[in-house]
Amino acid sequence: MPLLSGSSPESSSAANSEQTPAQQIESLRQQLNEHNYRYYVQDAPSIPDAEYDRLMRQLQGLEEAHPELQSPDSPSQRVGAMPLSAFSQITHSIPMLSLDNAFDDDEFNRFNQRVKERLGMDDEIEYACEPKLDGIALSIRYEKGLLVQAATRGDGTTGEDITQNVKTIGSVPLRLTANDASGELPEVLEVRGEVYMPKAGFEKLNKAAAEAGEKVFVNPRNAAAGSLRQLDSRITAKRPLEFCAYSVGEVSDGFMPEHHSEVLQKLSGLGFRLNPELKVVTGVQGCLDYYRDLGERRDQLAFEIDGIVFKTNRLDLQAELGFVSRAPRWAIAYKFPAQEEMTLLKDVEFQVGRTGAITPVARLEPVYVGGVTVSNATLHNADEVARLGVKIGDTVIVRRAGDVIPQIVSVVAEKRPDDARDVLFPAACPVCGSETERAEGEAVVRCSGGLVCAAQRKEGIKHFAARKALDVDGLGDKLVEILVDQGLVNSLTDLFHLKVEDVSALERMGPKSAQNLLDALQKAKQTTLPRFIYSLGIREVGEVTAKQLALHFCDLAAIRNATEEQLLEVPDVGPIVAHHIVTFFRQPHNLETLDALLAEGIEWPAIEARPPAEELPLAGQTLVLTGTLNQLKRNDAKAALEELGAKVSGSVSKKTHLVIAGEAAGSKLTKAQELGIEVTDEEGLLALLREHGKL
Ligand code: IVH
Repeated sequence: MPLLSGSSPESSSAANSEQTPAQQIESLRQQLNEHNYRYYVQDAPSIPDAEYDRLMRQLQGLEEAHPELQSPDSPSQRVGAMPLSAFSQITHSIPMLSLDNAFDDDEFNRFNQRVKERLGMDDEIEYACEPKLDGIALSIRYEKGLLVQAATRGDGTTGEDITQNVKTIGSVPLRLTANDASGELPEVLEVRGEVYMPKAGFEKLNKAAAEAGEKVFVNPRNAAAGSLRQLDSRITAKRPLEFCAYSVGEVSDGFMPEHHSEVLQKLSGLGFRLNPELKVVTGVQGCLDYYRDLGERRDQLAFEIDGIVFKTNRLDLQAELGFVSRAPRWAIAYKFPAQEEMTLLKDVEFQVGRTGAITPVARLEPVYVGGVTVSNATLHNADEVARLGVKIGDTVIVRRAGDVIPQIVSVVAEKRPDDARDVLFPAACPVCGSETERAEGEAVVRCSGGLVCAAQRKEGIKHFAARKALDVDGLGDKLVEILVDQGLVNSLTDLFHLKVEDVSALERMGPKSAQNLLDALQKAKQTTLPRFIYSLGIREVGEVTAKQLALHFCDLAAIRNATEEQLLEVPDVGPIVAHHIVTFFRQPHNLETLDALLAEGIEWPAIEARPPAEELPLAGQTLVLTGTLNQLKRNDAKAALEELGAKVSGSVSKKTHLVIAGEAAGSKLTKAQELGIEVTDEEGLLALLREHGKL
């Protein structure tokens, strides 16, 4: 039996050609199922993706050559089937319920009170706590262990048959495994749970869609729903979907244990993925502690959640409590503050930034979202306005997650009024009236006024005085605005010529605070080279780049005279940044300002030249950073490692010395393990940086 072309017969795991096709197929299916389970359910892959693909192609080839050996639970089913013309409707054997909500501690307390009163119990209730995944509810039916049907919740009574699509989801077993002591599989088992798209997969999918000029999804939930609604399951197969089980529907007699948490453990034993954050607690305080803890970690989780589901853990108590209309009395969803809300876009105003960039800012009807009241959101630039297709008067969806600034994610098209107005970028700068321009290939519209423009002057001065720059104590944004508006400061050097009597005459200033400001300005003259470079406000030169420039060139004159080629040798500097730096130092007015500032007496301690590259502690070492770092920004970590002489590469090869695997590291980690390369985690990285004085 010839093997499929492209397969490598020397690999030990490949099908053995001395076996019958049926045996080869069986062996490949077993291997693929095992790898699938490790990858999707246990998050612990043991072979690289390419190897998995190779085994899959081999199985597909054999199944094509032997159609009589096809099977509905073959892992080859996961790549998708021929498109359907429509989904058929199915009726759930046991309705899929929804949950009552609580929105504050009082409401949660009242739920607990109701439970206790109905049960006539004084003792504290035991609750199973589960993150409320923000995805799509699913019921998957197994008969004699084989997946026979998967359906959406629909209206709770009838849903859509999306079996073909669900079979493509790696964390859904096509056949149950009997991992518990009894070794038995239930005759019928309906597993219920949530299909969702992890945040990382969502970002990647949207990035690829944006690059291909396709429509992006507004959030992971929509992306999951859209992926499941595909009539062509081969498309679903390419989407990063996951399934987590959280309950059961119809089950054969004898399956149910005494506690809900044990039901979930049984499901895990049968091959399902459970949410990693599950916990059983006692009483209201236990529930509230869990709610707060996860609420604080919500933004760091790999998946989106919109609250916590609390379920009485004892199943006999669940039965006693029963249901009211469509929701159980024994469970509640305690929601987190919504991260997305609808509101009205009242107007769009334009702000001018330090580099003249004109940013459209949405003025919104105030709305409570993500735990704060939001009345403004950035619209970024002209491309973003075009992408959203937003008009003034539209109803928009605003999102605020964690500390991230509020964003407009989409427009509610149905709610557009007839008199909605286009967002028009001004032809003249709203602050100084100079012409605006949009360079070719750039999304940003800019004011051409330079330092003529008060807005740019103000922003430049704010930046110069900011904490990460010259750190002028007491010179906040508001005071800069006043100083410029009053004509007391027109340039950076004017700051150093301020007089006590001028400053003390300003609103909310007195002689004492005026003198303090002048003292702070004098003090700020003693700075460091990285701070001074940063303070100049060169486009795209942030703190990290400023520091790299200072360390590389050691003095300002060298940076000032550097060519683009020389700048490219600096870690963290690419062609665009190099171009901005050279352009900055070519402008006569910038050079004049620079000289004037130095003449004011701004100075810094000399930077010692770095030891030759080969003497750095990590000289000659090639490192790879993969996965998510929680405590360090990836760029900062990279820069620090490079300062120690390491080369930080994007891919793992035999030449790699060390792989630093953050959270949810994937194929690079697998490859490193395969090649026997040393691997460490974020803690290991922090220890390494600490050891060499970089933290
Ligand atoms: S239990 C009888 N548990 O929330 C209980 N639901 O409004 C039925 N959901 O449609 C649901 N995570 O899609 C349950 N751990 C969880 C859940 C969960 C998310 C969703 C589910 C359901 C909706 C209820």
